[in-house]
Amino acid sequence: MTLTFLGIESSCDDSAAAIVRAADGARPESGGAAILSSVVAGQTALHADFGGVVPEIAARAHAERLDICVEQALAQAGVTLRELDGIAVTAGPGLIGGVMAGVMLAKGIAAGTGLPLVGVNHLAGHALTPRLTDGVAFPYLMLLVSGGHCQFLRVHGPEDFTRLGGTIDDAPGEAFDKVAKLLGLPQPGGPAVEAEAARGDPRRVPLPRPLLDRPGCDMSFSGLKTAVLRARDNAVAEHGGLRRSDRADICASFQQAVADVLAEKTRRALAAAPVPLLSVAGGVAANGAIRAALAEVAAEAGAEFLAPPLKLCTDNGAMIAWAGIERFRLGHRDGMDLAARPRWPLDQGAAPMLGAGKRGAKA
Ligand code: KG4
Ligand code: ZN
Repeated sequence: MTLTFLGIESSCDDSAAAIVRAADGARPESGGAAILSSVVAGQTALHADFGGVVPEIAARAHAERLDICVEQALAQAGVTLRELDGIAVTAGPGLIGGVMAGVMLAKGIAAGTGLPLVGVNHLAGHALTPRLTDGVAFPYLMLLVSGGHCQFLRVHGPEDFTRLGGTIDDAPGEAFDKVAKLLGLPQPGGPAVEAEAARGDPRRVPLPRPLLDRPGCDMSFSGLKTAVLRARDNAVAEHGGLRRSDRADICASFQQAVADVLAEKTRRALAAAPVPLLSVAGGVAANGAIRAALAEVAAEAGAEFLAPPLKLCTDNGAMIAWAGIERFRLGHRDGMDLAARPRWPLDQGAAPMLGAGKRGAKA
């Protein structure tokens, strides 16, 4: 007896659907989960001319592509709708038009098939991924670092999260993207800045380490971006243009500053609430320097470090299917009144976030 779920994701700029199968009642520690298919249709090209995600364009693209993603996910898994045990869908937080497109599609499939419907918090999808990939046991510490999110979550259970801190302004991925733009590098900025940084000197350009002087795990990245702008202007004024070596040094110094801030705040999060394992999710987790810094901090604290495969760190349907299975096992079911929520903090007890990045809602 197994549980096979369809997961639908459309909260930002990736339309995604996946089929995940888990041994019924089995703890993930027994290695009972399998990703039968995972289809992701990105929208990078659609937004490229606008320098950021345009919510209306994203919503329309989701409405056009999501059902195709679902068809492909079913076909690739060799599974029919009849063989599913439930449908999980991201119900927030995110850009509301996209979330609505996913929720409406999921409701339509649930109404047509009579299958149970489970609304999933997108951040819970990221946060529970180490259980899907590696059967990690609770509790553990999750650092979510992407273009839209940045927070530390202590994960106690599928619906039990404590937020230890997060960014008060930009997310780190957003900072990488803006720095790339300032330096004339292509989008998405993260990989471009990392490639330049490999040729640069991380000690050459003095940049701030925002909020390290304040206790706690909150972070700030918008001042860093302003400092990069100043460093660029200084380099241009000095040499009449931005030399390749200056650009590489700025990238390396910026990346080092982000890694230092994330590492120190992770150190504090692990000290405040010791757990046996640190994991990361989000596109920024692809960054080699940041991964290495986090692995070192985990080792210092005697914790294991787990970085899931990159395609499961970035937005995908498998993490939503899995989070849906975890909620379903706890008895959670949604009805046709399931609402799309632009904001949906995982830790209801935490103070509201101050920042709202380009991706809109950050919870
Ligand atoms: O998780 P993701 O695909 O989408 C969301 O933001 O939800 O993350 C994308 C972000 C972008 O801002 C991108 O620049 C950043 O992750 N990113 C990186 C790297 N690869 C992607 N940042 C730093 N270094 C990288 N190698
Ligand atoms: Zn995400």
